[in-house]
Amino acid sequence: MGAPNLDTRLTEYVPGRIWLKKYSVHYAGADFFARTTFIRLNDGRVLVHSPCPIDDALVEQLQNIGPVAHVVAPGSYHYFYVSAWQDAYPEATTWICPGVERKLPGLRFDWLLGDRSPQVWEGQIDQVLVRGTRFIVEVAFFHRASQTLVLTDLVENIGDGSPGGSDWLLRFWWKAVFRMWNRPKPAPEYQMGWSDKAAARASLERILAWDIERVVLAHGDCIEADAKARLREAWATPLAG
Ligand SMILES: [Fe+2]
Repeated sequence: MGAPNLDTRLTEYVPGRIWLKKYSVHYAGADFFARTTFIRLNDGRVLVHSPCPIDDALVEQLQNIGPVAHVVAPGSYHYFYVSAWQDAYPEATTWICPGVERKLPGLRFDWLLGDRSPQVWEGQIDQVLVRGTRFIVEVAFFHRASQTLVLTDLVENIGDGSPGGSDWLLRFWWKAVFRMWNRPKPAPEYQMGWSDKAAARASLERILAWDIERVVLAHGDCIEADAKARLREAWATPLAG
């Protein structure tokens, strides 16, 4: 069972630069959705961030955007469809967030992501490996030209207006337990344990130093107004560490 009425079309988000696609997710008994981000680099090649299920229609649509050259599993919960993309694009380079190699030992990958951008997107996309977390890890990406921060689970923004946000179990957990319904916050796996708040704060402050105009999230509605203020609010707990 997937999220009802979910618009899963590939949509151009930043003209000529960034495309987004939603897909249904069933996790911990709840239905919601996740979002894949496609970034066209200056050389025309495409980076797939947090890969979604792939099918022939999507491959065909991507042909109009550019060759898929990079498959990125940016977080410790965002690697599920990497091998399907590797099968479709055998020449693509696979980049994973540290920890994914332990969660999925058989996964083929080329490089671990860290704080330094690799040469292939240096100067175009900045990145921070967020430290000081106990249960979940991710690498945050910042696309300079469009001033777009791309996150997986560091902020979730699910509420009344979110497509697929009507699942009762999700609503219960988000409202009653984590108090993050209609209020952007880190995923529960972050909220359940910051192992080193000072380290987390240092990572988050590095992200906040970027000139962020908008935030693309894996779960919930993207943030397009007052982005930095919303981020500071969402991260109030670790930032106070
Ligand atoms: Fe996630």
